[in-house]
Amino acid sequence: MKLISDHLLAWHKDHGRHDLPWQNTSDAYRIWVSEIMLQQTQVATVIGYYERFMLRFPKLSDLAAAPIDDVLHLWTGLGYYARARNLHKAAITIVEKYGGVFPTHHEDVMALPGIGKSTAGAILSFSTQQRYPILDGNVKRVLARFYEVEGWYGKKSVETKLWGLADKNTPENDVHIYTQAIMDFGATLCTRSNPSCLLCPLSKDCKANIHQRTAELPHGKPKTKKPTKHTYMLLVKNANDEFLLQKNPPSGIWGGLWCPPQKNSLSETLNVGRLNVEKLEELPIYKHTFSHYHLEIAPVLCRPEQHFNAVIEGQQTWYKLGSEQALGLAAPVKALLRKYS
Ligand code: ADE
Repeated sequence: MKLISDHLLAWHKDHGRHDLPWQNTSDAYRIWVSEIMLQQTQVATVIGYYERFMLRFPKLSDLAAAPIDDVLHLWTGLGYYARARNLHKAAITIVEKYGGVFPTHHEDVMALPGIGKSTAGAILSFSTQQRYPILDGNVKRVLARFYEVEGWYGKKSVETKLWGLADKNTPENDVHIYTQAIMDFGATLCTRSNPSCLLCPLSKDCKANIHQRTAELPHGKPKTKKPTKHTYMLLVKNANDEFLLQKNPPSGIWGGLWCPPQKNSLSETLNVGRLNVEKLEELPIYKHTFSHYHLEIAPVLCRPEQHFNAVIEGQQTWYKLGSEQALGLAAPVKALLRKYS
């Protein structure tokens, strides 16, 4: 039986993606940034973010030298902000430890914040053509179907089995082409809910196709219901129609991003730092879903009691959407500020 790679190298020539902005380069920095942005995010969404990021930080040293607020600003709306914080941290490490040159040893790459085994494999196969397997979500799906692998790949035994299959299928030659090919194949043809088996070059050997189990495989995570959390978000607007934002501590779901003050409960007068604010109006609930929970945000329009410069320098600021100030905002915060500006 042929390996997946035998089929996919030929398939990729005509059907793969060849002109994405992070392709046709061996610059590990550019490849690394793209791989991080593409974790959990579709190509179509990433392209614009990637191009703006590269214009602002053309070299790894530019990223390392930038304030984290500038990095998060360019990440606004892309989600999973730990990715941006890790990218920045890793850039600083690479400057300090490797003189600004992206490391080429697999263990050194994997030791950088935000880079797991699969991402390290992808970066090294694209930038140096070293033979390392990858196992991102797309590849897991392709392998699970082709070999009819049972069980959820969050389980260690299933993951280990898939890594073995990924390794077996990674060719000695043209590894960079194969890596791109299997990513593209998973993203465009062997898709989660609507695989194009009639057009598929693997269909004759694919066990899931032969046994008509493509809808069932790969097995998903056993279902648990996501909890719902609640928060009040104070939209404190001053006389210049600017909103009060506070900088979140560096870790956590919106770490390093700027947010309106949040409260678990409300009284008529609330304090935020040195500022007292008065509640004006409770606005309709805004719902947002994270990977692990739902968040119901109850926005509350407020006005400051005191003059506006009672804000705490570096931790609070008055902000108007569209202003020049570079700071990172979570997508729901941006949406709320837009709605109530
Ligand atoms: N997803 C992750 N890496 C990718 C890449 N290099 N091209 C397309 N999709 C990807």
